[in-house]
Amino acid sequence: MKVLGLAGSPRRNGNTDLLLAELLKGAASKGAEVKTIYLNTMKIIGCQHCDDCFKEGKCKFQDDMQQIYKELEEADVVVLASPVQFFGPPAPVKAMIDRCQSLWAKKYILKIAPLSREKIRKGFLISVGAMRMKEMFDATIGIVKTWFHVLEIEYTGELLFSKTDDKGAILKQPEALQKAYEAGQKLAEG
Ligand SMILES: Cc1cc2nc3c(=O)[nH]c(=O)nc-3n(C[C@H](O)[C@H](O)[C@H](O)COP(=O)(O)O)c2cc1C
Repeated sequence: MKVLGLAGSPRRNGNTDLLLAELLKGAASKGAEVKTIYLNTMKIIGCQHCDDCFKEGKCKFQDDMQQIYKELEEADVVVLASPVQFFGPPAPVKAMIDRCQSLWAKKYILKIAPLSREKIRKGFLISVGAMRMKEMFDATIGIVKTWFHVLEIEYTGELLFSKTDDKGAILKQPEALQKAYEAGQKLAEG
């Protein structure tokens, strides 16, 4: 069982990083092989809408997204940890998702599986924001659900924390970290 954690925050060791680490710790405690990719350190240009991927379902741009395609293929569980920035995910997260247009092309233009259908992949979202309104997660949830749907990854759940702003503020909410740990255990149990 491989669990891929995609850390979406530009702030290393910030709130979403801490929650993701806890979730992965929970998954590892159940025997899962876990891996974290920090999207902000990857070189991923935005989708150029060149439609070149319509030919073979591959993106022609040879940047770090090529590694992510491989990791998505290999993962049994994909966990995206994304803070809310201006009501949506930060740019590195959105760039990575938009570059999955080549997987969209495989599915909807070429009529082939976006990722191999030999396994059923599960997806999970962690998000954190400073505001108190519930709606602040709506855009991120919508984007991630659409992304998972295209990639045929089942949206199995989410952990959303509002009113959490300062770096490390989530550490003052031990129940949040506990929930993340337990979510990781559950995901690894299948
Ligand atoms: C550019 C930017 C935009 C933000 N926009 C929002 C927002 O629209 N709504 C919100 O609730 N918090 C917003 N925040 C606050 C972050 O979501 C919050 O600080 C969160 O805890 C950051 O998580 P991290 O430590 O994992 O990066 C924004 C922060 C930044 C830097």
